Amino acid sequence: MPNPQYDRPRVFVSRRLPEVGLKAIRGACEATVWPSRMPPNREELIRSVKGCMGIVSLLSDRIDGEVMEAAGPNLRVISNYAVGVNNIDLAEAVRRGISVGNTPGVLTDATADMAVGLLIAAARCIRPAAEEVRRGAWKTWEPTGWLGCDIAGRTLGIIGMGRIGQAFATRMAMGWNMNILYTSRTQKELHGVPFSTWVSLEELLSASDFVSIHVDLNDETRGLIGRRELGLMKPTAILVNTSRGEIIDQDALADALACGKLFAAGLDVTTPEPINPDHPLVGMYNCVITPHIASATVRSRDMMAEICAHNLIAGVFGEPLRAAVC
Ligand code: DGY
Repeated sequence: MPNPQYDRPRVFVSRRLPEVGLKAIRGACEATVWPSRMPPNREELIRSVKGCMGIVSLLSDRIDGEVMEAAGPNLRVISNYAVGVNNIDLAEAVRRGISVGNTPGVLTDATADMAVGLLIAAARCIRPAAEEVRRGAWKTWEPTGWLGCDIAGRTLGIIGMGRIGQAFATRMAMGWNMNILYTSRTQKELHGVPFSTWVSLEELLSASDFVSIHVDLNDETRGLIGRRELGLMKPTAILVNTSRGEIIDQDALADALACGKLFAAGLDVTTPEPINPDHPLVGMYNCVITPHIASATVRSRDMMAEICAHNLIAGVFGEPLRAAVC
C-alpha cells in the first residue's frame, strides 16, 4: 500500500499551458491536464477537481465555493493563469484557507503594446480599410477616403493607473507626445509617466480624445462605463479596453458608435467571451474587436506559465506563493 504521506500531490490543470509550466508541474505533482482546446464544462470541472490539492485555472473557469467544495478539504491552492482573478470567489477561498495566486508583472508590456495597437487601429480605421482590400473593393487613392484622427499631441485618459496603465501611458507620452490624464482610487507618484494629471472620471471622460481602461474587474468597476459616461465623451473620441469586457455597457457602446456619439472603439475583451457574433458591435466598421489576446506573446505566456507553476507547487507544499492574491 503506498503511504499517502509520500504520494505526490494531485492537481488539476484546466488547460494545456506552455511546456515550461507543465514540465515544472509534472515534475512535482501528479497532474491531470484537461486535454482539449475548449474548457471543461461545469460538470467536467467539478468532476476533475475531486480530491485535488491544487487547481490551475484560466480566466474562463469560474472557481467558486461549489468547485472548492468539490475539490474537498485537501485543496490548498488555486493558481490562476492570469493576472486578473475576477473568475475566483476570493472571499470563499479566504474563508476556506485556500491560497490564490496570479501572474502579475510579466504581461505588462505585451498588454500595453496591444492597447497601443488597438488605439491606432481604431483611430486610423485599419480594420475596415484592410477589409476593403480583402473584398477587392479598393478602387483608387481618395483624398477623403478612410479619414481617421491624429494621435500625436492629443489627450489620453487612462482609467486605472496600475502597472499596465502606466506602461501604456509612458508609451503614448514618450512616443506620441500625448498629454495624459488619469483617474484611479488614489493619486500616484508617477515618476516614469511624464505630463500626467489626476482628474475625476467625469473630467477625464469629457476632456480626453482617447480613453483607455486598465482597472481590475470587481463590484466597483463592473459597468463603470455606461450610457451616462459614454455621453460625457467627445463625439470624436476613441475608447480602448484591454481589461475586462464587463466594465463597459456594450449595448450602450454600440448605440454611441452607431449614432456618431463616439468615433471608434478598440476592444480586446468583451462580455461574454466570445462575444455573440450577432451583437451589433461585431459588425460595426468603427469597432475593432480582438479575442482577448493582449498577453499573447510567446515570452509573456511562458513567463505566466512559470509563475503559475511556481505558485501551484509552492501552494501544495505549504510554502509562500511567488505571487499571492490571498
Ligand atoms: C489577465 O492576465 O488577466 C489577462 O486578461 C489575460 O492574460
